[in-house]
Amino acid sequence: MIKLYEGVFEEKQGKKKVLLTESLTPGRTFFDEEVIKEGNKEFRIWNPAKSKLAASIVKGVKVFPFKKDAKVLYLGCAHGYTVSYLSEIVTRGVIIALDFAPRVFRDFMAIADARPNVIPIIADANKPESYYHLMPAVDIVFQDVAQRNQVEIFMKNCKLFLKKGGYGFLAVKARSVDVSRKPEAIFAEVGKALKAEFEIVDKKSLEPFQHDHVMFVVRK
Ligand SMILES: C[S@@+](CC[C@H](N)C(=O)[O-])C[C@H]1O[C@@H](n2cnc3c(N)ncnc32)[C@H](O)[C@@H]1O
Repeated sequence: MIKLYEGVFEEKQGKKKVLLTESLTPGRTFFDEEVIKEGNKEFRIWNPAKSKLAASIVKGVKVFPFKKDAKVLYLGCAHGYTVSYLSEIVTRGVIIALDFAPRVFRDFMAIADARPNVIPIIADANKPESYYHLMPAVDIVFQDVAQRNQVEIFMKNCKLFLKKGGYGFLAVKARSVDVSRKPEAIFAEVGKALKAEFEIVDKKSLEPFQHDHVMFVVRK
């Protein structure tokens, strides 16, 4: 097993390589993920087809600022697949994880309950004023909301909560913006809007793991 970043590992399985994090809940899994045991430690396999952050790592994202003590605002946590892994990376930090859908949020509570560094908030990311009073300044804003106005939502949250010099990760799903237009035209437009406010550090296509998705990484 080799260490790719603090808290993120890679191991060969036959001809392919898998990503792993060390389980915070040994003996207990939440997503039917495979685990690998090494001594008294347990590592969970992280699937890039189910997580845009994992796909970004496999695609060689240029920066990985998710340090042990990072404070992260995660917009669009859904059932918490990616948050569960991220909580095993920012072990001494905190993830404020938000979603507005009550059904997924109910499942997500099981993940949050088992992880002291995850703070769940049920709220609309489009209305950051509704959770403003709960928020510290954060080192990273990560967004995966698949909404038509995803860039606007990202900008609002970065403006209010991201520290100067902090990083923003924006997963853009072209089809959520406009199904009738070519994904490349949408990505170019998103890039232009982001460039007006931030330094663009990276732009990674997440193919073949996530179809018509790009991960933009920006610095405030
Ligand atoms: C593609 S899923 C996220 C998957 C998740 N990031 C993962 O990797 O495990 C998108 C999520 O964004 C949530 N969402 C969409 N618009 C939102 C908004 N305005 N505020 C909060 N959550 C939103 C949806 O409810 C959905 O659960």
